[in-house]
Amino acid sequence: MTQDATDQAVKKLFIKTYGCQMNVYDSQRMAETMGAEGYVLTEDQAEADMVLLNTCHIREKAAEKLYSDLGRLRPLKAGKPDLKIGVAGCVAQAEGEEIVRRMPLVDLVVGPQTYHRLPQMLRGEAPRILTEFPEEDKFDHLPERRATRRAPAAFLTVQEGCDKFCAFCVVPYTRGAEVSRPAERILAEARDLVARGVREITLLGQNVNGWHGQGADGREWGFGRLIRAIAEIDGLDRIRYTTSHPNDMARDLIEAHRDIPALMPYLHLPLQSGSDRILKAMNRKHTAEQYLRLIDRIKDARPDILLTSDFIVGFPGETDEDHAQTLRMIRQVGFGTAFSFKYSPRPGTPAHGRATLPDDVVDARLQEVQALLQDQQQAVQDSMVGRTLGVLFEKAGRLPGQMVGKSDYLHPVFVEAPDAQPGDLVQVRIVETARNSLRGELVA
Ligand code: 5AD
Ligand code: SF4
Repeated sequence: MTQDATDQAVKKLFIKTYGCQMNVYDSQRMAETMGAEGYVLTEDQAEADMVLLNTCHIREKAAEKLYSDLGRLRPLKAGKPDLKIGVAGCVAQAEGEEIVRRMPLVDLVVGPQTYHRLPQMLRGEAPRILTEFPEEDKFDHLPERRATRRAPAAFLTVQEGCDKFCAFCVVPYTRGAEVSRPAERILAEARDLVARGVREITLLGQNVNGWHGQGADGREWGFGRLIRAIAEIDGLDRIRYTTSHPNDMARDLIEAHRDIPALMPYLHLPLQSGSDRILKAMNRKHTAEQYLRLIDRIKDARPDILLTSDFIVGFPGETDEDHAQTLRMIRQVGFGTAFSFKYSPRPGTPAHGRATLPDDVVDARLQEVQALLQDQQQAVQDSMVGRTLGVLFEKAGRLPGQMVGKSDYLHPVFVEAPDAQPGDLVQVRIVETARNSLRGELVA
């Protein structure tokens, strides 16, 4: 074969991922699916034969981003009529045909449960808009994860969808009902990742701690039991999981934090609001007091656990007093970091249509929440100075001879370590904090 012919056989795929870690995972699986069809990933959109936008629908801003990005693709498509443009993810699921109507340059629209059929769609053997929730499980139809060495930290989706129906949230509609993958499949995928050099796995699910299923021993397992089984894999050093609902923090999961050294002392547990009135209006189905008591139990099991959270500011009906209670709760719990968002009304959700608050009020409240969270984040980072922590190196740092990895508490740590490799798990004494990272020295 001539060089030319080889070049022609290889097609280039550019994927842009918006939103959460599950989209990151899905993008990898889509890349693998397309890899089996001869596509290789490119970082350069201009040289792509196919552009896939893996979208997020959680807030209006995230969804609107798709349309501005599609608009920017017009000149590329005009100069390259064979370019295929696909929209995947939760906007695809929610808006389907509407996307093609608004943006005729889009060739394919594929939802989060149907992307295993991308190759058929490209060949014209399946409809160009596929957003149903199929009976079949996409995981049964995806190619084996590619037999290449992998980065030391990987995601693994164990659960998808959500049955909680928080009043603000599109997830139950875009990702559908809660489905747990079978334990055996998860364990096989985890073993395969570890065999290819992965030392840290983050288990993913929209409501990951609601995972349940039949275990390897034929019994019904909860999420804590699943973590115990995964922790037994030789060569796996670290386990994390995200995102959890407070009401699904079952006893066996809390005990896993006490018993399993590989389970990292880090928990993302969205609270959304500190006011019981607002929690009720949000349909979160717990009170602030219940959240505090839960945190106490988790800290009894693992005293050094670092808590992080999500907050929505300016939910319909939120008063100054409700807002003050959110600030009070943040002070009382103390978070390692947290995401806070302006409430964004989403079509089809129960809260859509409820009267919203004036923008300036919400902006001011958001600033207060973010300033407090930023102070807490800085205080937690400062408290790491002088401590010796495990750090899993992921890649070279900015400076020569430097490596960067994550601490047990998920802080990025820069370390001078000229002889180290990605995948090394080392002990590091923290010597300095910056805004979003730490610096440390190898401990002999
Ligand atoms: N508006 C603002 N924030 C939202 N989130 C989910 N839906 C909305 C919405 N409609 C936030 C929640 C959730 C996080 C992933 O996104 O805080 O925990
Ligand atoms: Fe959305 Fe999470 Fe509530 Fe489910 S539990 S509806 S994913 S915010």
